[in-house]
Amino acid sequence: MCGIFGIVANEDFDLGKALIEAGKRLSYRGYDSVGCATVAADRTIDLRKDVGQINAVSERMRFDEMRGRRGIVQLRWATFGTPATRNAQPHLDCDGDMVGAHNGNIVNNVELREAFIAEGHTVRGENDGETCVHAVERHFDRCGDMVEAIRLAYADLNGDYAFVITHRDENRLYAIKKGSGLVVGLGDGVTCCSSDLPSILPITRRTLRVRDGEVVVLWPEGFELRSVTDGSVIAREPEVYHGGMAAAEKGGYPHFMLKEIHEQPQLAGELLHLLDNSTDAPKFVEMLRQSDPLFFVGCGTSYHACLLGAYYVNKLAGKVAVPALPQQFTEQYGNCLGKAASVVFVSQSGETKDVLNAVKVARARGATCLGMVNVIGSSLTHVTDLHLPLACGYEISVPATKTFLNQVIMFLYLADRLGTMTAGAGLVPAQGDHKGAPLHALPDLLARTIELTAPAAERVAARLKAWDDMYYLGYGLTHPIALEGALKLKEITYAHCEGIFSSEFKHGPLSAVRPGYPVTFITAPDDVEMMINHVNEVTCREGLAIAIAEEDERLRKNVNEYLVLPPAGQLLNPILATVAVQLVAYHAATARGIDPDFPRNLSKTLTVD
Ligand code: M6R
Repeated sequence: MCGIFGIVANEDFDLGKALIEAGKRLSYRGYDSVGCATVAADRTIDLRKDVGQINAVSERMRFDEMRGRRGIVQLRWATFGTPATRNAQPHLDCDGDMVGAHNGNIVNNVELREAFIAEGHTVRGENDGETCVHAVERHFDRCGDMVEAIRLAYADLNGDYAFVITHRDENRLYAIKKGSGLVVGLGDGVTCCSSDLPSILPITRRTLRVRDGEVVVLWPEGFELRSVTDGSVIAREPEVYHGGMAAAEKGGYPHFMLKEIHEQPQLAGELLHLLDNSTDAPKFVEMLRQSDPLFFVGCGTSYHACLLGAYYVNKLAGKVAVPALPQQFTEQYGNCLGKAASVVFVSQSGETKDVLNAVKVARARGATCLGMVNVIGSSLTHVTDLHLPLACGYEISVPATKTFLNQVIMFLYLADRLGTMTAGAGLVPAQGDHKGAPLHALPDLLARTIELTAPAAERVAARLKAWDDMYYLGYGLTHPIALEGALKLKEITYAHCEGIFSSEFKHGPLSAVRPGYPVTFITAPDDVEMMINHVNEVTCREGLAIAIAEEDERLRKNVNEYLVLPPAGQLLNPILATVAVQLVAYHAATARGIDPDFPRNLSKTLTVD
């Protein structure tokens, strides 16, 4: 994710303190490293940066002592380059005349970096933020004009990003937006720009949203917007933000849960990018390949990701992975563990006590411990041999949404790589073959899923309001999503909802069905025929059948409500269906007047047995 904030004022002041404050408000966007750069009236640049979270780094590096007229703070979520000081942002150009930082991804970073090295640039790390600075520097050295240099650099830099830079000779900040968020704040004798509104609001409520393909120039008393295409000036009036800080932190959404659901397309893209460029991912896959047996362990939502992960590993790599709850893992398999076993521990927080207990058991028996974790620096990152970050930023809402999605995407990615390694056939290179859409189509497919399912999810949620008991049924790959949909629903509506394998319904639970009784069927395209049998068991008893599936005429004729997913094929379908069950749960909670972000009796992180 990453976060950037830049500020420019008329005279030197305690800039460090302002940058710490802004950085704290952006801290959810990255905590691998933090850096601050200030430029004083005498043109000196003070750059301090280190690995870690904002609180620790700002204290260690004494950001509070930094003074100047303009400054930049950046919070990094590592993608290009390991979390190391040389890769922490902001970055200097070769001669130390410019300093800049970005968020997002420069997808041609590797090629550009090599070109800069060949041209004799002083390239200090592997990070793509540094590439942005050299890209501007290269053109500035020829044309001597910052806006022109940024426009030309824009043509060189592929990917989605926002970028801020300053030259020590001018009391101006320059920022550009392409794909990532960028907001400008216009105060009294001070202007600023940021990835996100909450870091701007303590300074000013006069704001301006920069659009893709625009360069913004900021000086203490004003701003100018320029088109990246031809450099022409763009006229746009600033707006006054009237909402409160809490609303701003929710990015305009009424709840964090909805905001986090909507973040999923972007985060999926960032995760795939991270995995494509990770040096740890291939090591992780190799460890999976060597393991015998292989376990996937997690609690709650993370356990459901483990279940789907086991399906993917079976289907794509022909390997058995045993999904287990931590205590079940210990009690049922603990005695059979040896040095050849590997266990992937999956956790958003990395602090769940049940999971950490199971790590101890696995460690004691010499098994390899791997991690999939969102919170970098959490306990799980320290006790595993290797971990991969889920790269979702802070998940504030108690119900896990975006972290589940990136867990299952990561499992699919790893299973595919494992399959490529063992059988020579993977999903990633396969464009639209029998397995369906390519993995890298996910960000667009997820955005389309939100669009397509949101109205139907709200309508269905209203119908569920009258019921305090219901079922979610899935078959094969969608069974974990039925469990996840049911968990989400009970977690934030307080109604009872059970997720089961659809073919099991007739073995007992079917007796609950009576007129109007809601049963939701989630099916991947290849399983529709089988699912129609299970649907009919409910509809012939006048139950309410709700389908979550790709458009299918046969299914449509048999159900009462239909949440249509975009066509994506067998393997991506469960990932898209996740969005639909999240939206149904969200609207079902709000329809009952429950705040989904903070359900009663629960806590985001469970550090007790
Ligand atoms: O942080 P973890 O992933 O280890 O947390 C595990 C569960 O407590 C968590 O997934 C819980 O089930 C969610 N709040 C459900 O939405």
